[in-house]
Amino acid sequence: MSKRIILDCDPGHDDAIGIMLATSSSEIELLGVTTVAGNSLLENTTRNALIVLDMVGRPDIPVHSGRNAPLVRELITAASMHGDGGLDGPVPAHPSRSANPGSALEFIENILISEPEPITLVATGPLTNMADVVTKLPHLHNKIEQVVFMGGAIGLGNWTPAAEFNILVDPEAAAMVMNSGLKLTMIGLEVTHEAWLDDTHAGQLRGQGACEEFVAELLDHFVGFHQKRFGWPGAPIHDAVTIAYLIEPSLLTTLVTNVTVETQSELTLGRTVIDLYSVTGKTANVEVGTGINRDAFVTLLMQHLLTLS
Ligand code: BDR
Ligand code: CA
Repeated sequence: MSKRIILDCDPGHDDAIGIMLATSSSEIELLGVTTVAGNSLLENTTRNALIVLDMVGRPDIPVHSGRNAPLVRELITAASMHGDGGLDGPVPAHPSRSANPGSALEFIENILISEPEPITLVATGPLTNMADVVTKLPHLHNKIEQVVFMGGAIGLGNWTPAAEFNILVDPEAAAMVMNSGLKLTMIGLEVTHEAWLDDTHAGQLRGQGACEEFVAELLDHFVGFHQKRFGWPGAPIHDAVTIAYLIEPSLLTTLVTNVTVETQSELTLGRTVIDLYSVTGKTANVEVGTGINRDAFVTLLMQHLLTLS
């Protein structure tokens, strides 16, 4: 049986590859994409989701835009990493359609009501839309099988020394999700920094078809950025790990423990505080990714990407 999911995202290079991995997998049924402001403004992340679904020949998958700003803070974008439009690299395209009418929250509500079985929510941007699900749809939480999100870190951050981007952008939303009582899996930087592709992979994709070429062009930009900025050989494909994990859970090692989010301190705002050694006695609320079989991840991702066209 395939896993029925809604992907809430802010494409973004790695979000885009996550969408493509989901559409290329027989284990996943992508019921819809919802968008949030994060890597870029909401209008850009929504347009980019539509472009990616056009590229993979799935204009039938609904796209609904959600929150255009964090719950209580000014939006921080990641233009330095993803470009002003959120998807630098490929020649800019125009989507064949507009986003579907109705907000991300309305779409998620309707799906949760109409689907007979609980569904999985995957979040690869700031958790603003997910916080709405937590606070506005409590009567439907029993229809949510789990929430798998990319965000946070056990150790150091990537946007500040203390915080990972998705959690830093909307820490109040992330705190609500952590306290929701929903079944949560966190895929943070310890995992995703191992999940990288490099120029060799772009080379393998190039010339294999329009979709593969598109991913190669995404990688040209994304790998180049990480090489220049951090001196790394490749680029972490953070968000695609959420989908890879749903396809093959044995890719990850995990630990179930307590996670809280710092929402007050200027210095450590957005830090995910992981009780790795169970020192607090607080209830375990999150299954936290602690490691990934990188070779198996790369093989799975490349195999799927190479079937796209
Ligand atoms: C996360 O931040 C964004 O820039 C990426 O799309 C990913 O979701 C990694 O910290
Ligand atoms: Ca993202």
